[in-house]
Amino acid sequence: MDHAPLIDPFARRVSYLRVSVTDRCDFRCTYCMAEHMQFLPKKDLLSLEELDRLCSAFIGLGVEKLRITGGEPLVRRDILTFFRRISRHLETGALKELTLTTNGSQLARFAPDLAALGMRRINVSLDTLDADKFAAITRWGRLDQVLEGIAAAKAAGLRVKINTVALKGFNEDELFDLVAWCGAEGHDLTFIEVMPMGDMGEETRLDQYWPLSQVRARLAERFTLDETAETTGGPARYVRLRETGQRIGFITPLTHNFCESCNRVRVTCTGELFMCLGQEDVADLRAPLRASPDDAQLIATIRAAIARKPKGHDFDYSRQQVAGQMRRHMSHTGG
Ligand code: GTP
Ligand code: 5AD
Ligand code: SF4
Repeated sequence: MDHAPLIDPFARRVSYLRVSVTDRCDFRCTYCMAEHMQFLPKKDLLSLEELDRLCSAFIGLGVEKLRITGGEPLVRRDILTFFRRISRHLETGALKELTLTTNGSQLARFAPDLAALGMRRINVSLDTLDADKFAAITRWGRLDQVLEGIAAAKAAGLRVKINTVALKGFNEDELFDLVAWCGAEGHDLTFIEVMPMGDMGEETRLDQYWPLSQVRARLAERFTLDETAETTGGPARYVRLRETGQRIGFITPLTHNFCESCNRVRVTCTGELFMCLGQEDVADLRAPLRASPDDAQLIATIRAAIARKPKGHDFDYSRQQVAGQMRRHMSHTGG
């Protein structure tokens, strides 16, 4: 069997796989989905067995970090079965981290089982602590349900990282409240620059864009920001607030491109392999998965795709214009 690691044309090793297990979600966040989405027919989805085979193949090729995304991954039927099976790779040590990015709505139900199967840490999306604003931005979500889920995760011993998309005119006024809440609860907090994904129209994206250079400057008015070299294996760069000791991350696809250190690829719930979040190029892994019970063809397809991983995205809002926009929704690739 061919186990050589996955190295792309820019000498970056692919060690982080993000797999979206469903395109469905129980929320409709305005920057992520349209209100009325056409979801995929079930037959197009990879089965849990196929997802397991696919993830295991990547682990055989040196992937050490597996993040399950969606849509909302915890609404996929029987997802715990998948997690339990795939956690065998944690036991062998081949996989260093098995984790999840979630909207938190189902965590109260799932957190204890996730912790029991070896998950240590999860990322939860939360853009506001105001119930009305939360209902507005998620369209269908309820803040108290998510806060309950986050509390359940903490009680189960899972470390929580809150992901907050920085949105001008939306959560600017909550910067210090979010920091204080995360500090008090012991959660890491990461801010993300809004990316031009989906079909929202250019004005809206630019109107919403709150560069993290400005978030950082605002934070520095009240706190001393100590730079750290700490990493969670993703694109965030972290500082520690000297006064509280808490960790704050910045994901800055617009103001500071981090593509030179990219270590990740994404697979959608239908088995499309995206080599970059911000590019269209895609490889179909479902066909080789279904063509043969042997993984040779699958692995050859993965290698051929990695050999054309692009240098980076083309997102750009400078000159007051949106460039590099992707028509696909963020929910398609799982962020
Ligand atoms: P950890 O570092 O393990 O906490 O994870 P992460 O930051 O890689 O994962 P998470 O799902 O929390 O990612 C947060 C968001 O960052 C994603 O949903 C995307 O919006 C953005 N992001 C993650 N990876 C990339 C990337 O490769 N390129 C771009 N442009 N954005 C990314
Ligand atoms: N820009 C930046 N982040 C986004 N997310 C969803 N859509 C966008 C976007 N257009 C984030 C969510 C979640 C993660 C999966 O991706 O808030 O934290
Ligand atoms: Fe990697 Fe593409 Fe993200 Fe850049 S935009 S970090 S190349 S996936």
